[in-house]
Amino acid sequence: MDYYDKIEQLRAHDLLRTVKDRDCRTGRTITIAGREFLNFSSNDYLGLASNPVIVRAAQNALSDLGHGAGASRLLSGGTSLHAMLEDKTASFKGTAKAVMFNSGYAANTGAIPALTDAHCAIFSDELNHASIVDGCRLSAAKKYIYRHNDLNHLETLLRKSQNPPNIFVITESVFSMDGDVSDIYNLDMLCRKYDALLYVDDAHATGVLGNGKGALAHFNVTPNNNIIQMGTYSKSLGSVGGFVAASEAVIDYLFNTARSLIYSTALPASAAAASLAAIDYIVAHPELISRLRGNITACRRMLLSEGFSVSMDLTPIIPIMLDSTVETLRISGRLLEMGIYVPAIRPPTVKTPRLRISISASHEQEDIAHLANALAEARK
Ligand SMILES: Cc1ncc(COP(=O)(O)O)c(C=O)c1O
Repeated sequence: MDYYDKIEQLRAHDLLRTVKDRDCRTGRTITIAGREFLNFSSNDYLGLASNPVIVRAAQNALSDLGHGAGASRLLSGGTSLHAMLEDKTASFKGTAKAVMFNSGYAANTGAIPALTDAHCAIFSDELNHASIVDGCRLSAAKKYIYRHNDLNHLETLLRKSQNPPNIFVITESVFSMDGDVSDIYNLDMLCRKYDALLYVDDAHATGVLGNGKGALAHFNVTPNNNIIQMGTYSKSLGSVGGFVAASEAVIDYLFNTARSLIYSTALPASAAAASLAAIDYIVAHPELISRLRGNITACRRMLLSEGFSVSMDLTPIIPIMLDSTVETLRISGRLLEMGIYVPAIRPPTVKTPRLRISISASHEQEDIAHLANALAEARK
């Protein structure tokens, strides 16, 4: 295979990606190649990645327990901090138990194939994240893809599927590239009707919706044995790692079967310490989530008043849909010239190219006003 040729083909279609490494902590601003930008590109929605309390928790664990975990969790890679984080995650999410993975990607690619087999049918939203898609690819189950957030289509497919012994419905609660919210209340009802398990990827709802507890709390859905909540510590919690929170049987089974957990070295104890401190922090500081919500509402309103077509969803991911990759790159580049970093998201990550704005509690109102004005200017 000629990879140079393939790279040139990507370049020719404006689809070549390049890495932009920063020279500073992530936060309201970032410095790339010596230049400071207002940062609208991070999933650190609460600004916890650089919060001194959380950084100190990680530093203390690093001093006490060293860096590398040395082995996978089932050998000697875990510490009491890993176990404490799992207990805290379970009580935060209202489940009997939880298990941590090395990333959200590892959680989905490990848990989905472990929990589904050839006797199972998976029903997955068409816009589900790549880690869910890859988890489904690794599963022996039969797969059905339903139209985005279309519960009628899901029910039609459920009816057509001729009662497979085990049914698994998978959705994101807040969609990572569209920022819209799935109707977890009615999905739960539908899953009860068809005796299906509901697997909710709460990556972008954790720390944002339901006082930070996520989508179930937002929709007043009581966690039960038919719902599996997956999430990450890497977004609002400002740390690293993924988790699954569910019934005791599901979690014990995952410890025995999830390959990304069993065959990979555990995360350092410092990562668990930071995630623990982050959960405590958001519980103790509800004003942080209120501030994020204020910023989200302000940004959506300002963009609407500049004539952009955005929803009033309560989520920090705001896509600006554009007609072409060329136009998306042009506007993203123009914003960079104006000192604002909003990434251009292109195929194959999404079908429709877009600017993906991420709002954080660490933004000031004038940052958001500056973004809205700059976008209006760049669009001309
Ligand atoms: C919906 C969703 N699930 C899972 C992941 C993977 O999480 P992590 O970045 O912790 O691997 C992401 C990350 O982008 C995501 O957006």
